[in-house]
Amino acid sequence: MHMHKFEKIWLILGTVALLIFLTVLGVSAFYLGNQPPSCLVTIDPEKVDTTAPFNDPGLHKVDGKDWDYELVFVASAFSYSPAKVEIPKGATVKIIATTKDVIHGFEVAGTNVNMMLEPGYVSEYTATFNKVGENLIICNEYCGVGHHMMSAQIEVVSK
Ligand code: CUA
Repeated sequence: MHMHKFEKIWLILGTVALLIFLTVLGVSAFYLGNQPPSCLVTIDPEKVDTTAPFNDPGLHKVDGKDWDYELVFVASAFSYSPAKVEIPKGATVKIIATTKDVIHGFEVAGTNVNMMLEPGYVSEYTATFNKVGENLIICNEYCGVGHHMMSAQIEVVSK
């Protein structure tokens, strides 16, 4: 069978690209253990205020875990609770958040903390804050007329 030279080149390039892609995916999934978020942690959105840990939003020191603090946030139209929180510099913080009403966003500007908060689900992200200063938390999911005013602050303070 006759095949044009360029056709062969494209065929080889395509096959190589596919193999590279599958290798990256395979290493990521089976060697590094990456997987999509499970969404296994659920909550009754009508009972957020009485369900632990959301009955006590804010920063809590924990012992014997891979992180130093748990930072609990409850989002609702159009605010976050707590509205402002202080974190010691260098602390590893597990952010645990949910929403009482509609879908909200939870983005800590300038970091890779970026979660979607869905009613009925608990979102978690573990991050270390190494830079002293104010971090703005913004809602990046359109949630209603007050969407643009929905924000909170994380202030990283030196110990
Ligand atoms: Cu909450 Cu937009």
